[in-house]
Amino acid sequence: MQEIKNTIAENFAGPASKLGSHQFKLDDCPDLSGKVAVITGGSEGIGFGVAYTLLKHNIAKIYILSVSKEVVEGAKDAVAKELGQDKADRTVWMQCDLSDWPRVKQVAEAINHDTDRLDILVNNAARGIMTAELTSYGVDRHMAVNHMGHVILTSHLLPLMKETAKQGSVVRISNQASNMHTKVPSDIKFASLDEINKDLGPNEQYGRSKLAAILYARYFDRKVTRNGHPNVLMNATHPGFVSSKQSRTDIFEAFPLGGWAMSHGLEPFKKDQFEGAVPTVYGVTMTDKSGQYICAPAIPEAGSELSQSEELADALMELTRKVVRDKVRSEPAGKGSPFDDLVLH
Ligand SMILES: NC(=O)c1ccc[n+]([C@@H]2O[C@H](COP(=O)([O-])OP(=O)(O)OC[C@H]3O[C@@H](n4cnc5c(N)ncnc54)[C@H](OP(=O)(O)O)[C@@H]3O)[C@@H](O)[C@H]2O)c1
Repeated sequence: MQEIKNTIAENFAGPASKLGSHQFKLDDCPDLSGKVAVITGGSEGIGFGVAYTLLKHNIAKIYILSVSKEVVEGAKDAVAKELGQDKADRTVWMQCDLSDWPRVKQVAEAINHDTDRLDILVNNAARGIMTAELTSYGVDRHMAVNHMGHVILTSHLLPLMKETAKQGSVVRISNQASNMHTKVPSDIKFASLDEINKDLGPNEQYGRSKLAAILYARYFDRKVTRNGHPNVLMNATHPGFVSSKQSRTDIFEAFPLGGWAMSHGLEPFKKDQFEGAVPTVYGVTMTDKSGQYICAPAIPEAGSELSQSEELADALMELTRKVVRDKVRSEPAGKGSPFDDLVLH
């Protein structure tokens, strides 16, 4: 019975959200004075809900990585109006398309240069439920943005995060996953680029990248947290069904007619961006565990059987390392820093 209540609490807004076995509210977020965060996609939707909450709770600085300048300017204005100019001035925007991997590395290096600590990393930005597409590197865009771009970012920020933990902070990383991670073929192997470039359909393309977000957290727990860095934690989250650009607008790209049900029909039942931010805020400010799949509001769930496979996680990360190294190595000199290898842990 509690399982059913948890499923309702995880996904829907209003009184339904009170049915969950584990409770957490944004007001429970601790004081974050002196801490520094990086958030991808922190300019709108759930990412904005997270950034706003961290600022409200006095975080010293947030680097927001996203694509559109106009969107981030709107976000900064909203923060200035509601929380004051001082809080808005604590945000630094860095233009960063996560499919442009040399740029991701460049941005990580600029952050490393600009701050001497990093307590929170929110890997949130994503291509939503949309059709299959290849990036300029010839890699499936869902995997390239949602998973590989974030692995590159995290890997290049990891030495700074380990150093921050050594100085006494608990460093928390959260990957935005989804219950859609269950929507993948059961024979998924992450064995080759050809496999991940196979068009599975919009729900499955997206689901596969969200499965990767959970597998990465569990891999990181084994290779980093439980391997000498007990205070560097990585978890994955499911925010529930949230009203955002992804669920209101982008859905029509994949489903020009059927998208109506998701964009309008289900709108009254969706969470707003602040309700959607709850599990991530819990994951980056409260939890003392790593490798969990945290569903809204703060319920640790097992996730699918595939999401628990160590073998699949190893295959995913080996493939990630190989694809990124091979693709970026072929860049003409001067376009970006080549990756000799990707330091994953
Ligand atoms: N909405 C839901 O019901 C739901 C459910 C489960 C999981 N999620 C996950 O929650 C996260 C946030 O989604 P949302 O619903 O809040 O969506 P959203 O409002 O569309 O926000 C997406 C954010 O990601 C950024 N972004 C998109 N592509 C990017 C790229 N290539 N490089 C860098 N940044 C990029 C966008 O930046 P620009 O505005 O600058 O383009 C935007 O800030 C995603 O991981 C999503 O998959 C959402």
